[in-house]
Amino acid sequence: MLPAKPYLQSVCIRPDAEVDYDTYPHNIPAIRDMGRMEFHPDVTFLVGENGSGKSTLLEGIALALGYSPEGGTRNFSLSSAGSESSLHEVLRLARSFRQPKDGYFLRAESFFNVATYMDEVGYLDGYGGKSLHARSHGEAFMALLTHKFEGKGLYLLDEPEAALSPNRQLAALSAIHQLVEDKSQFIIATHSPILLSYPHAKIILFDGTGLSEVAFEDTEHYAVTHDFLNNYRARLDRLLDQD
Ligand SMILES: Nc1ncnc2c1ncn2[C@@H]1O[C@H](COP(=O)(O)OP(=O)(O)O)[C@@H](O)[C@H]1O
Ligand SMILES: [Mg+2]
Repeated sequence: MLPAKPYLQSVCIRPDAEVDYDTYPHNIPAIRDMGRMEFHPDVTFLVGENGSGKSTLLEGIALALGYSPEGGTRNFSLSSAGSESSLHEVLRLARSFRQPKDGYFLRAESFFNVATYMDEVGYLDGYGGKSLHARSHGEAFMALLTHKFEGKGLYLLDEPEAALSPNRQLAALSAIHQLVEDKSQFIIATHSPILLSYPHAKIILFDGTGLSEVAFEDTEHYAVTHDFLNNYRARLDRLLDQD
């Protein structure tokens, strides 16, 4: 039998698309030179400096798949702030013959809006029966991972660690692994060295030269965190030196 995963195999800019490299989003170096991004069947991490284009590409993929720019499931149509780029119109997605049975697009910055919408429509069963507003941001995200995500899904997450304590990041890693074992695929933009350590994954670095694959221990996230925690007194002395 052919493997069902990855649901999403690759993404590239349509070769025949007419794009303006002087304006957003095609003026972002990683987008301009992205070539073809091949996804891992389990987890693909997007890493790179702030402003390197991770959210722009994740949003483009989500819109091309039919999600609202504000995030949520594909059934939710939230009004958007209208700030989304036109990238989705020129993306070519290669997909598996088999559709995922579940899916979610999480934008950290508009999770509040999704929670409000869910309160309004009384749609809380999938989230453990309690308003997401009545939980902390981290609790709400964990409720999403453990109650709402059903498996056999394609999940797009933008910096999910923003809300999570280190312990919760470990719990999130375990929840993600269970979903992966249940035939799910994730694409996750993150700065979290804890999440990036997940072994069934591929890490794609966004930088001035486009996209490239990088090993966990070669990421800046690993190197900087590792070095800082091992030498924090000396690093602080240098960082905070007023002279
Ligand atoms: N709606 C927009 N219009 C114009 N420029 C934007 C817009 N959204 C983001 N940008 C710019 O595009 C670049 C990439 O942003 P983004 O994809 O959010 O980066 P990342 O998620 O990697 O931090 C940044 O320089 C940002 O200022
Ligand atoms: Mg971002």
